[in-house]
Amino acid sequence: MPTRHPEFPNLVVFDHPLIQHKLSWIRDETTGHRPFRALLSQIAGLMVFEVTRSFPTAPVTIRTPLEETEARRLSATITVVPVLRSGLGMVEGILTIMPEARVGHLGIARDEKTLKPVAYLKRLPKGLDAGPVVLVDPMLATGGSAAAAIQMLRDEGARDLRMICLVAAPEGVRRLLKEHPDVMVYAAALDRGLTEKGYIEPGLGDAGDRMYGTE
Ligand code: URA
Repeated sequence: MPTRHPEFPNLVVFDHPLIQHKLSWIRDETTGHRPFRALLSQIAGLMVFEVTRSFPTAPVTIRTPLEETEARRLSATITVVPVLRSGLGMVEGILTIMPEARVGHLGIARDEKTLKPVAYLKRLPKGLDAGPVVLVDPMLATGGSAAAAIQMLRDEGARDLRMICLVAAPEGVRRLLKEHPDVMVYAAALDRGLTEKGYIEPGLGDAGDRMYGTE
């Protein structure tokens, strides 16, 4: 079972052996971009099972080859929103398990003058209030872009939000707890902290670069 973190009521860390095994490979500096992408996608797929636990279902009457019976189906419109670039690496794994989800995209960069995160790309499906919205970004570092992304999704109507990441830093989790306490964060690891340049340590380096071989 994933564990709630004692210091952070907004954080669930997956201690599942399969996720921890794959995380060890993805952190490893000798892992190249092809296995890195495959592992990221696989871990995201494994996380979906728990992340979606609270999703609403409704009863339906169906007919099996033997008889009519009651069953349950997902009853809300689900939206997955990766933050570019590296969020894209988790989407395929999520959609493999949950192909009914819609996908929006957010590209966020820091404005050089104000130093505040701004969206350089925002393509979101309409009616984000129609169901759960899952924000996806592998690295939760300072939490600046995650907090901004959540605010953008709220401004577009999202009400029921959660975030999937791979590795979280305490600084980012703390910031989200302060600014968006209702948004649960799901991570494979809570790491020690941040370097001066904002990298998570021990972390895994730049997730986008490692995914696409641009390092
Ligand atoms: N983004 C990354 O890709 N890696 C980090 O360590 C921090 C932010």
